[in-house]
Amino acid sequence: MKREQLPIPVTLPNVKAHAKRRARLAKSLGEGLMLLPTSPERTRNADSHYDYRWDSYFYYLTGFREPEAVVAITLGKKPRHILFCRDKDMEREIWDGFRFGPAAAKEIFLFDEAYAITELESLIPSLMANCKVLHTPIGADAAWDQSIARWINSIRAKARTGVTAPVELRDVRHTVNAMRLIKDDVEIDIMAKAGKISSDAHVRAMKIAKPGMFEYQVEAEILHEFITKGARQAAYGSIVAAGGNACVLHYRENSAPLKKGDLMLIDAGCELESYAADITRTFPIASKFSGPQRDVYELVLESQLACIKVLKPGVPFHKYHEVAVQVLAQGLIDLKLCKGSLDKVIATESYRQFYMHRAGHWLGLDVHDAGDYMQQGKSVKLEAGMVLTVEPGLYIRPADNVPKHFWDIGIRIEDDVLITKSGNAVLTASCPKSVNDIEALTAG
Ligand code: GLY
Ligand code: MN
Ligand code: MN
Repeated sequence: MKREQLPIPVTLPNVKAHAKRRARLAKSLGEGLMLLPTSPERTRNADSHYDYRWDSYFYYLTGFREPEAVVAITLGKKPRHILFCRDKDMEREIWDGFRFGPAAAKEIFLFDEAYAITELESLIPSLMANCKVLHTPIGADAAWDQSIARWINSIRAKARTGVTAPVELRDVRHTVNAMRLIKDDVEIDIMAKAGKISSDAHVRAMKIAKPGMFEYQVEAEILHEFITKGARQAAYGSIVAAGGNACVLHYRENSAPLKKGDLMLIDAGCELESYAADITRTFPIASKFSGPQRDVYELVLESQLACIKVLKPGVPFHKYHEVAVQVLAQGLIDLKLCKGSLDKVIATESYRQFYMHRAGHWLGLDVHDAGDYMQQGKSVKLEAGMVLTVEPGLYIRPADNVPKHFWDIGIRIEDDVLITKSGNAVLTASCPKSVNDIEALTAG
């Protein structure tokens, strides 16, 4: 039997959900032309490429994962949704794998029209001519900025023929950010699954971490759990930090040996169907918590639970950071790590010796997801459908003003939280974090 082309080897996203987002965007943009490219491929060394990751904005609006693609929407009463993508190429597909090609992509991804990416240059003048507003990313990619300027200038050059070039450039990401901030049911379902897989990975790490292993071997176990469960990569570089390495906030070396009784801080989340999970857990390696470790752990946990408790619609985003600071600062005073009244410790920010980052961020297609935190000088108010992380921590480096038994204790506890109509739901709730539940895994 003759087969004309390779079968479609990719799992499809919920294409209807992506098309619906495009339609919503077209409606809210109003007039003009929307143009949005996906990410370029990049080499890591010589001719080896980084694993390709599509642009999150582009994916949000298309569900399309191939490089060399642009989405265009001609706005107005009857918007046209157009995809530019790589042409079918049986020679290239033998080497690099399947491509949809414009004809199949148009049908499968629900576009009105689709063309080869090589036609973009010649079709741009007709798309852009006489359109007043151009909605496109500005300042995201120098090559794209240059193309935009070149296309606008090429239309300007034809002014005497009666065509006009766009007079207004608007960064379309601003509008998409507001959409991405409120997750729809399709997104929430994926993020809950990503949370569960990531939670399973942390449990695996708690059980498996033993003296004599190296941090990278625990990292490998985490990746093993991600990949065998269908999440083909981590959403960001996993932090797998034993002992004092836990006090390096963005520790990525992951090469030190594990010592019994040291704490291990793991900040790792999978990327599932392009959505990130982001979990941190801290546990004693193959043992129970020591007294000082437990004191600090219980304090971080208390602050994390207090943060989660305040998360509900109507609460300003920055509120839970304030809660984290309140609880941690009081605890640091109780542990005699900070001196003075609570008001003084907060006003002078002396707690920052031990807690120097914010309590969390939006989460979604990007681990630090799109979306404003402030609007008109005010903290954005939480709404149902938003997903954020809650991740207070304490990092106690050796210092003259710190009793030795606290040295090198670094603890962060991070969960992913969905704001619901009535409050919130912790998407990563299956990941143990009470002292008893953790010790049952590490000292069992
Ligand atoms: N893993 C990145 C973060 O926690 O923000
Ligand atoms: Mn985070
Ligand atoms: Mn994290």
